[in-house]
Amino acid sequence: MIHRLIAAGVVVASTLGVLSVNAQTSSSAFNNTLMPQPAHLTVNAGSVPITPQFTAAADKFHDARLDAAISRMLVRLKAQTGVQIATTPASGAATLTITADGPGEAIQGPDENESYSLEVTSSGAHLKAATVVGAIHGLETFLQLVQNDRTTYFLPAVSIDDSPRFRWRGLMIDCSRHFQPIEVIKRTLDGMAAVKMNVFHWHLSDDQGFRMESKVFPKLTGMGSDGLYYTQDQAREIVAYARERGIRVVPEFDIPGHAQSWMVGYPELASGTGPDYGGPYQIERQYGIFDPVMDPTRESTYKFLDRFIGEMAEIFPDTYMHIGGDENNGVQWKANPKIQEFAKKHNLNDTAALQTYFNQQLLPILTKQGKRMIGWDEIFAPGLSKDAVIESWRGFDSLAASAKARYDGILAQPYYLDHMNSAEQHYRADPVPVGTMLTPDEQARILGGEACMWNEHVTPRSIDSRVWPRTAAIAERLWSPQSVNNVDDMYRRLWVESLRLEAVGLTHLSAEDVGLRQLAGTAQIEPLRVLASVLQPVGADQRYEMQHTSQLTPMDHLIDTVRPDPPSRHQLERLVKAYLANHDTEARAELTATFESWIAAGPKAQVLMTSEPLLQDPAPRAQQLADLGTAGLEAILYIEKQQTPPAGWAQGKLAVIDQAAKPVGLVRFTVLEPLRDLVNAAGK
Ligand code: ACM
Repeated sequence: MIHRLIAAGVVVASTLGVLSVNAQTSSSAFNNTLMPQPAHLTVNAGSVPITPQFTAAADKFHDARLDAAISRMLVRLKAQTGVQIATTPASGAATLTITADGPGEAIQGPDENESYSLEVTSSGAHLKAATVVGAIHGLETFLQLVQNDRTTYFLPAVSIDDSPRFRWRGLMIDCSRHFQPIEVIKRTLDGMAAVKMNVFHWHLSDDQGFRMESKVFPKLTGMGSDGLYYTQDQAREIVAYARERGIRVVPEFDIPGHAQSWMVGYPELASGTGPDYGGPYQIERQYGIFDPVMDPTRESTYKFLDRFIGEMAEIFPDTYMHIGGDENNGVQWKANPKIQEFAKKHNLNDTAALQTYFNQQLLPILTKQGKRMIGWDEIFAPGLSKDAVIESWRGFDSLAASAKARYDGILAQPYYLDHMNSAEQHYRADPVPVGTMLTPDEQARILGGEACMWNEHVTPRSIDSRVWPRTAAIAERLWSPQSVNNVDDMYRRLWVESLRLEAVGLTHLSAEDVGLRQLAGTAQIEPLRVLASVLQPVGADQRYEMQHTSQLTPMDHLIDTVRPDPPSRHQLERLVKAYLANHDTEARAELTATFESWIAAGPKAQVLMTSEPLLQDPAPRAQQLADLGTAGLEAILYIEKQQTPPAGWAQGKLAVIDQAAKPVGLVRFTVLEPLRDLVNAAGK
């Protein structure tokens, strides 16, 4: 069957808006939902239907990793289409031929060739890549290309030539503050693979818990983990699982600060004075910056780290090992006369200088294991080896400063997921922004970026919604050309990607309903769902201030159930814009229906909430929802009738919106700004 597609030879990457319009006007037109967008895409005439005869085969090089990737793709294609296809690679001629030149690096590094090309014509599909990693990325694109009309699934004829803009496209998960079971890590890796991310940065130790088994130093987890840690076998399993998906695993052991959990079993690492080196130390339950820090002056500290890093190097083959290095307040160092004496003798005049000394001793220990050092901003200080990589959590300026000083760097801060910013805000943050003052050489030192999931307030149930789908927008920023920057089009594709991520096993959508049912003690949660759809969690700092959280705080409130940047925020913004710009009737109808649903749901949600202990705090949100709906509905009525509202009407409604903007129950409304625009427009 041949599907009429839009004119052959249309180059797409920078004209997404045009394509999406076409896609919505004809069921057989190509609907570009690729995420991340490829570097080069041409849409041609023709298509390949998915029938039971569909096959995929590698025709040149293949190995167990490529075979497994092809099988996983076929299993997902079968599930996605309901067509009974064979789920193992074929031999000989196939519908999809995969030509990989070779396996790629034995240990994947930032210089791995990740490029691929994909050619689909009416007679079949051909995926070509230099490495298996490139082929793995191409197989994800292949799945994302699948289109359907009313009765059939098919692949559109396209020509794709793709490679990433940045070499380092990471996701950091903090497993210290709240341990995340192995199943969570695996489904996270599946999500990362779906959007072509290639570094899993595993934050394995911090003050609040040591999560990696050491057989050399068993008290690390024996006393520092509450029994919540990864065995060495599990870590190896994760490394292998990640490699199968083209993802590197970079472990982080945060030292010399943020290391209190080490000292519970091994107080001799600490810099305090007295018989217990300032201890005895406990697993830290509070959040923040704490005094315990490793003693940089004692030979025994480095002997310990030498043995520990040697043990970890056998489990984690990646060339990079992250040593943290952030937020050492220097308090224990300043209070210890022996350390001060040492510092004076070596001309180490402040905490930063002493920490650089520590890093200098660490460097040969890492080098001996074939590792390169990577650390947070604070390791960037005079005297640091040029071989070290700086991960910038302080933002663009410090990243630029390290690039100017000829260090490789990675951008982290604008991608902090715990801040609960919108996908749009993350998407707009470019590691090398337009108009950068960096020279081409300096720009080349910026390897990429990492989304960071700090887990002070995150449980295995809530983690997926904190990471996904926003991280898919970050993945696109790091993979696609800089010119792919249309926010509306990003969101259009993000909501599709969100469903695809759900299909690989992520629970970012379903967990919200689970949480609402648990909170309400009933399966009849419809009114609560309406309310939850326009609420999102406050950011981590705000939550900490309002709730004084610790590791022991229960994480089972409404804030732990609602999602950051749910569709309502961008949707309402878009509808109000369309309506106010040209009185768009579809937008008006959708807005009216939305406001009516708020008015109907509010009182019912209130009844549910006021009878449940865990919903008392956010209960005022229910009445506010109805009031906001009324404000929106009345605004539309005045605008439609071209009638001036009575004196005080706009001020009254703006006061309702201001009231709703105040923090209540640790959740925020997502829709207040467009509502304000609507009320202001009606008031004119
Ligand atoms: C950090 O946020 N302290 C890395």
